[in-house]
Amino acid sequence: MTDYSTSMRTDRCGDLRVDDVGRQVTLCGWVDRRREHGEHLAFIDLRDRSGVVQLVVDGAHDLRSEYVLQVSGTVRERPADTANDGLATGAIEIDATEVTVLAAAEPPPFPLDERTEVDEMLRLKHRYVDLRRPRLQRNLEVRARVNSAVRGAMEEQGFVEVETPMLIASTPEGARDFVVPSRKEPGSFYALPQSPQIFKQLCMVGGVDRYYQIARCLRDEDLRADRQFEFMQLDAEASFVSQDDVLAFISHAVSAAAEAVTGERPGEIPRMSWHEAQERFGSDKPDVRFGMELVELTEVFAGTEFRAFQASCVKGIRVPGGADASRNRLDDLTDRCKRWGAKGLVWMRVTEDGLDSPVAKFLTDDEKAALGSTMEAEVGDLLLLVADERRTVRHILGLLRVELGRPPVTEGGLHFLWVVDFPLFEGLDEAGHPIPAHHPFTMPHVDDLEALERGDLLDVRSQAYDLVLNGWELGSGSVRIHRSDVQEKIFSILGIGSDEAHAKFGFLLDAFRYGAPPHAGFAFGLDRLTAILAGEENIREVIAYPKTQSGADPLTSAPTPIDDRHLEELGLRVLPPAE
Ligand code: AMO
Ligand code: AMP
Repeated sequence: MTDYSTSMRTDRCGDLRVDDVGRQVTLCGWVDRRREHGEHLAFIDLRDRSGVVQLVVDGAHDLRSEYVLQVSGTVRERPADTANDGLATGAIEIDATEVTVLAAAEPPPFPLDERTEVDEMLRLKHRYVDLRRPRLQRNLEVRARVNSAVRGAMEEQGFVEVETPMLIASTPEGARDFVVPSRKEPGSFYALPQSPQIFKQLCMVGGVDRYYQIARCLRDEDLRADRQFEFMQLDAEASFVSQDDVLAFISHAVSAAAEAVTGERPGEIPRMSWHEAQERFGSDKPDVRFGMELVELTEVFAGTEFRAFQASCVKGIRVPGGADASRNRLDDLTDRCKRWGAKGLVWMRVTEDGLDSPVAKFLTDDEKAALGSTMEAEVGDLLLLVADERRTVRHILGLLRVELGRPPVTEGGLHFLWVVDFPLFEGLDEAGHPIPAHHPFTMPHVDDLEALERGDLLDVRSQAYDLVLNGWELGSGSVRIHRSDVQEKIFSILGIGSDEAHAKFGFLLDAFRYGAPPHAGFAFGLDRLTAILAGEENIREVIAYPKTQSGADPLTSAPTPIDDRHLEELGLRVLPPAE
């Protein structure tokens, strides 16, 4: 047990119990709530990080909400009829004999109770007040516990913590760089790291053998519930290892984090191939907490007369009990699928009298029967079908499945999943160059090197793997290329010419010429892991000082303009805003 007593207090408010009755205590904290009790007496809830305790104060008229107090008094048992079972300190109260105001406070900009929904701009502007709320106090503690457990787990496995620089040249993680102008070399810029990727690989060439870092990463991308400009990764890399070794290291780290928060160690993390994840869940980050899997129907409609289903792939999902969806709702889902890139959406309500659908008349009885049995349809279900190219069908139904079935973050337990055997490239860009599914340092699957030579690029699997938790991508990693000839080949396939490759990554290619060990690694998002373990839907709730959706910090007003003298020193001139 930590001793929280200091020269100013004997105890923390929330720690006092019936066992303390009769003790003389001194507490410090904020006035959480006050209720008048007759003419002189007031009940005051005093709050600190540990919780609240009730004070009984005589003559407390000048004590207002959020005043900071030091209070001395005696712990006494509450009369039985006033005890509060819902509160850890609910059986006792403090008969306050001495109250000192350590700091007065203006009325808080918003109520601190958990019931009131407060505008997020206001919360972030006064984050120091927001942080006093039990929810954020708890989230920060969860975060600290996650960091500490992960650190411990990596150290246990012999990983050495190495810090890598923040002012660097660009790293290719696929996002836009944040840049910092150089004063010594006007017109030149540092990039802030999107990840320590290149440095950790260089550490392997440097013989570090097992590297880890709790690393701050910066990416200039559109913000969402699971994305901030700056975020933290557990970043790791190891030499003389295979994919299985890395999966074991990381499984141990995330399991330790989960155990540190929930008290329970998750079981062995299952694996699924990328292909299976796509076929069954329409996603490379399947949320396996619920069913509604994609059902293959291509065969069922192989000879169909119905034009919309004359496609290379037809799949459907079954929404149990979904038949009561209104026409409006179904139109809305259809529109949404079209916005996601579908040509349309066929819906069918399963009723006592058969399939109720505007397209039922275009299907034969055999097709309807085969559809019903393949989808295991029951009266009251809703069937949703999409026909198109296989990639498109999977993508649309994957989104629809999550939209219709995803449980809240606090439900369904923790479902970690390894997704393995990613393709090396996820598609082609406008110029016809393949887009790396992970990053350009990823080793192709040894069995697919021939396909790579032949140029069947989209068939090449990679030695890349993701860790998924409840439908969130928690992390990614891969076995790396450790030979400069293979790396140069991949750069050239990606359309990065030799000159460009040497200009951007010459130091890496050079390093590989001086004896690079085979190596592999991984990184997972600590913000995301913490959010799910804390039961939060948005990573902002587990970051002490996050940015808003638009990337601003209402607390410090960042980003702000800089003055002309400073601009001049940096050799910069600001253009007028674009029309
Ligand atoms: P990747 O780019 O997949 O891999 O990132 C790894 C993990 O970092 C987290 N993450 C983010 N979290 C919050 N906000 C963001 N903007 C954000 N971007 C990424 C995610 C993600 O899964 N260098 C490679 C790892 C490797 O190959 O070893 C990398 O960074 O949880
Ligand atoms: P249409 O023949 O385009 O009027 O479409 C008839 C019905 O089939 C509409 O409900 C469309 O939304 C749906 N539909 C059309 N194309 C597809 C498709 N490729 N996949 C699923 N449904 C489709």
